[in-house]
Amino acid sequence: AASPSRLDAVLSETYSETTELADIDWDSLGFSFLPTDYMYTMKCARGGEFSKGELQRFGNIEMNPSAGVLNYGQGLFEGLKAYRKEDGNILLFRPEENAVRMRSGAERMCMPSPTVEQFVEAVKATVLANRRWVPPPGKGSLYIRPLLMGSGAVLGLAPAPEYTFLIYVSPVGNYFKEGVAPIHLVVEHELHRATPGGTGGVKTIGNYAAVLKAQSAAKAKGYSDVLYLDCVNKRYLEEVSSCNIFVVKDNVIFTPAIKGTILPGITRKSIIDVARSQGFQVEERHVAVDELLDADEVFCTGTAVVVSPVGSITYMGKRVSYRDGGVGVVSQQLYSVLTRLQMGLIEDKMDWTVEL
Ligand code: COI
Repeated sequence: AASPSRLDAVLSETYSETTELADIDWDSLGFSFLPTDYMYTMKCARGGEFSKGELQRFGNIEMNPSAGVLNYGQGLFEGLKAYRKEDGNILLFRPEENAVRMRSGAERMCMPSPTVEQFVEAVKATVLANRRWVPPPGKGSLYIRPLLMGSGAVLGLAPAPEYTFLIYVSPVGNYFKEGVAPIHLVVEHELHRATPGGTGGVKTIGNYAAVLKAQSAAKAKGYSDVLYLDCVNKRYLEEVSSCNIFVVKDNVIFTPAIKGTILPGITRKSIIDVARSQGFQVEERHVAVDELLDADEVFCTGTAVVVSPVGSITYMGKRVSYRDGGVGVVSQQLYSVLTRLQMGLIEDKMDWTVEL
């Protein structure tokens, strides 16, 4: 594999126009799509291996109307971020974790997937080719969206005969419209996100379409997002539409255990390690919805949402507020350590960042 400096040299020769910062208003980034310069694609036949990946100008892709992803939802996605350091270099956060998660999701969805090395090299190449879109320090990050999809034509239900791995990127700021202010969640007690034995534990595209109805209804009522319960007991917390959930009580932090219906978030896993390194006791276990009633603090984690404090949760019409609707001290501490690590502002003792 090319070392970062060799990759960088190759890319700056090939994509020399891409080094100057893009001319956009870096202060107004939210979480909406902004087209950039290049995307990466790589194809593979069913039963084969991915090869000959390449960067190409960003643009629409052609697809057979009978493609497996369009007809039967045979698709996965990932999300990771690149931050620009003060010295201009770019940091990725645990990209191999996304590669490993895509591989396990692909196994569940009957798809071939890139090797960890192919995935990470493709991410590096895409970020470097689009480096002028990585926001200046403190202004946000470059969100990296790898996709894996059954792009070959099928009519009867079966795995597609061809697969496409694609990466595009977009500069982003805060995910929620609240910015860094606490969000307001509502617990959904009728619709469910996942079932035991289903695909809730992998990042398949259908999981996200399935939450749109509850999410839209919640937003129409002024909530920021929806917190889902398990579908068997209708009692235990699962996750929020786009992120994992953590609860704090008496300085002990707990979060729903991974058991096939919850997405194994990379930020979730990192926050557990960060919290333990800061001296907190962290428990991964069943968390009953009643425990929200007397919690001290609640926060969400995810690549897109980072660490988002929760100001209130409404369950069956009853609203509970945390830290008087302000940012909790534990959430603030964990957010600060994680983001300073991701931005290269503190020493990376965990060896999580990859510098480009
Ligand atoms: C992420 O946090 O990267 C995700 O993939 C969640 C998505 C709904 C924005």
